[in-house]
Amino acid sequence: MKGLFITFEGIEGCGKSTQAKLLRKYLKKKGWSVFLTREPGGPKISEEIRELLLSTDNKEMLPETEVLLYMASRSQHTGEWIIPALQKGKMVISDRYYDSTLAYQGAARRIDIKLIDTITKFATFGLKPDITFLVDLPAEIGLSRISKQDADRLEMESIEFHKKVRVGFIEIAKREKERYIIVDGTKSVEEIHNEIMKIMEVKLRKVSI
Ligand code: TMP
Repeated sequence: MKGLFITFEGIEGCGKSTQAKLLRKYLKKKGWSVFLTREPGGPKISEEIRELLLSTDNKEMLPETEVLLYMASRSQHTGEWIIPALQKGKMVISDRYYDSTLAYQGAARRIDIKLIDTITKFATFGLKPDITFLVDLPAEIGLSRISKQDADRLEMESIEFHKKVRVGFIEIAKREKERYIIVDGTKSVEEIHNEIMKIMEVKLRKVSI
C-alpha cells in the first residue's frame, strides 16, 4: 500500500485543523495507517522553532529570519517524520506545509516567490503534497473565530495582512489545479467533511492497494 501526502491550508480560523482530524478518522476507518502532523512543528527541533516563530515576545523578528525559520522547521519535519512515514506506506496529513510560506511570507510579507521556491525544494528534499485542501473563507470571518487574548505573533497581524494571505492561497490553488481542492470554509463542519470524504473516495480508488 502506498500512502498519500495530504495537506490542509487556509487562513487563521478557517477550520482546517478540525477537518484534518476528521479526515484522519475517516482514513483510519478505511483501514489506513494515518500519520497526522502540523507545521510549523512536529519533531522536537521543529516544535522549538515553532515557539520562536509564534511567540509574541519576538515582535522584532525580520521577514528574512521568519522565512528561514519556517524552512528550518520544515526540513527537520520532512526528513525526520514525513518522508519516513510515507516510506512505511502511511497516509500522511499535515496541517499546513510549504504553501503557507508562499501565502504568508510570499504574498503577505512580499518575500520573493522564486527565492521561496528555491529554498522550499532544498528544505523539502523535493517532496510535494499529492492533495491539498484549501479551506477558504473571508479573513473577517476567520479572525472573528480566534480569541484575541491568546493570539500568537502571526494571528496578531492586521486584517489587511490576512486578506493578502487569503488571496495568496487562492492564487496558488489556481496555479496548482491538479493537487488543489478549494472547499468553502463558511459551510458547517459536517458539510465540509462530507465534501472532503467524497473527494477522497475518488482519490483512494487511484491508490494502488
Ligand atoms: P497554525 O496557527 O495553523 O498552527 O500556524 C501557525 C502560524 O504560522 C499561522 O499563523 C500561519 C503561520 N505560518 C507561516 O506564516 N508560514 C508557514 O510556512 C507556516 C507553516 C505557518
